[in-house]
Amino acid sequence: MRSQALILVCMVVFGVVGTCHGGSLKKGFYNNTCPNAEAIIKNATEKRVASDPTLPARFLRMHFHDCFVRGCDASVLLNSTTNNTAEKDAIPNLTLAGFDVIDDIKAEVEKKCPNVVSCADVLALAARDAVSFKFQTPLWEVLTGRRDGRISRISEALANIPSPLSNFTTLVRNFTSKGLNVHDLVVLSGGHTIGVGHCNTFSSRLYNFTGRSDQDPSLNPTYASFLKTQCGNLSDNTTFVPMDPASALKFDNNYYVTVKQNKGLFQSDAALLANKGSRKIVDELLDSKKFFTEFAQAMKRMGAIGLVTGNEGEIRKKCSVVN
Ligand code: HEM
Ligand SMILES: *[C@@H]1O[C@H](CO)[C@@H](O)[C@H](O)[C@H]1NC(C)=O
Ligand SMILES: *[C@@H]1O[C@H](CO)[C@@H](O)[C@H](O)[C@H]1NC(C)=O
Ligand SMILES: *[C@@H]1O[C@H](CO)[C@@H](O)[C@H](O)[C@H]1NC(C)=O
Ligand SMILES: *[C@@H]1O[C@H](CO)[C@@H](O)[C@H](O)[C@H]1NC(C)=O
Ligand SMILES: *[C@@H]1O[C@H](CO)[C@@H](O)[C@H](O)[C@H]1NC(C)=O
Ligand SMILES: *[C@@H]1O[C@H](CO)[C@@H](O)[C@H](O)[C@H]1NC(C)=O
Ligand SMILES: *[C@@H]1O[C@H](CO)[C@@H](O)[C@H](O)[C@H]1NC(C)=O
Ligand SMILES: *[C@@H]1O[C@H](CO)[C@@H](O)[C@H](O)[C@H]1NC(C)=O
Ligand SMILES: *[C@@H]1O[C@H](CO)[C@@H](O)[C@H](O)[C@H]1NC(C)=O
Ligand SMILES: *[C@@H]1O[C@H](CO)[C@@H](O)[C@H](O)[C@H]1NC(C)=O
Repeated sequence: MRSQALILVCMVVFGVVGTCHGGSLKKGFYNNTCPNAEAIIKNATEKRVASDPTLPARFLRMHFHDCFVRGCDASVLLNSTTNNTAEKDAIPNLTLAGFDVIDDIKAEVEKKCPNVVSCADVLALAARDAVSFKFQTPLWEVLTGRRDGRISRISEALANIPSPLSNFTTLVRNFTSKGLNVHDLVVLSGGHTIGVGHCNTFSSRLYNFTGRSDQDPSLNPTYASFLKTQCGNLSDNTTFVPMDPASALKFDNNYYVTVKQNKGLFQSDAALLANKGSRKIVDELLDSKKFFTEFAQAMKRMGAIGLVTGNEGEIRKKCSVVN
């Protein structure tokens, strides 16, 4: 009765049931069952990142996509089967390289502690450790105790992952439906300080913004001319450009400088300037110390969306298939 009331309150407040389970994550969930789990993951991740500097961006985005679809339950890692097309196949090039590496890191953990550490925790920790690699210190705390889901559907990825074409109102609704607010939206968009976007995710801004072969007036014209030299047509899905060109591999708060110069790559980036309240948050995040503090807190909230805990779900042996 009491837990039903709690769930009801959570549904009213957050709009989703899963958000209410966030409290069951723990610091050091594997202390007793696999004391070296976090160190093994950190070592394995850092070794891979040292030879592939694109991995931090890939893992960070993968973790975001995992959490926004069915909660952070590693559903994004599952392969399609004969009867089911998985989330993975909805997302062109979320990157094969990234998935393989997560599978390998999990295999290393499995050698030491079989059937103990979830793939959802491996992904959450690897994303943090990859991004933190150059800083010699973890950039945000990752609580653990997530369990793995058994379902992954392409339709749910399409329905839950925000579009780069979205305006401010839509983005806020999309984040609210996950129990996150406007502040989280602006802070987490700062993840676009690393990594790349493919031309087809933004080239309508260059060539056909309102359907009259026009350009997005909110995009810096000089930057638009440059982007046109990179992206020759609307359908180019192979060329990619850095989202934060001044510091593409550096995890910092320069994204907000870029956005303020009207050089945010996607409409969803530019949208952060469309609202007075969010503009103010963008300004605040120009302070680097503030950005790191806020990003750390928002990542914790994102990492607790719709959790599978307790006896639900499973601890997958291999991240790409259910047990
Ligand atoms: C606000 C809603 C968001 C939208 C509409 C959005 C959209 C996109 C798009 C279209 C790409 C480019 C994909 C490609 O062309 O390869 C991208 C890349 C990326 N996104 Fe987001 N994103 C959002 C939020 C986030 C969040 C919350 C994070 C993490 C905190 C994140 C982290 C990343 C990273 C790191 C990349 C680069 C991936 C790589 O280089 O492989 N994004 N995003
Ligand atoms: C694991 O150990 C850390 C560090 O001693 C401690 O802060 C944390 O509460 C412990 N967690 C559990 C679940 O025992
Ligand atoms: C991680 O790597 C360091 C340095 O190579 C090593 O000393 C440590 O034992 C490793 N830890 C684990 C748990 O693999
Ligand atoms: C796929 O669906 C068919 C027909 O419903 C069923 O016979 C088969 O066992 C399913 N295969 C898997 C891998 O679930
Ligand atoms: C790119 O576009 C081509 C042609 O439309 C399509 O066949 C291909 O699957 C697309 N690739 C990706 C990664 O979206
Ligand atoms: C985002 O919000 C809009 C407006 O409520 C909704 O139509 C759309 O389906 C949502 N998209 C995602 C990916 O959540
Ligand atoms: C934002 O986009 C939605 C969905 O495309 C649209 O219905 C709405 O009118 C747009 N809002 C603004 C302020 O442009
Ligand atoms: C530009 O958009 C309009 C309206 O959506 C469409 O009819 C036209 O075919 C597009 N142009 C190109 C080159 O795709
Ligand atoms: C668009 O540009 C890409 C990359 O330059 C090229 O491979 C493709 O053939 C072009 N498509 C069209 C329709 O011009
Ligand atoms: C997708 O990723 C693969 C492997 O990293 C790469 O070879 C391919 O060119 C990428 N395709 C696109 C459309 O970006
Ligand atoms: C999942 O798919 C990838 C890419 O196709 C493949 O390399 C991997 O072996 C698959 N995983 C399993 C357990 O079959």
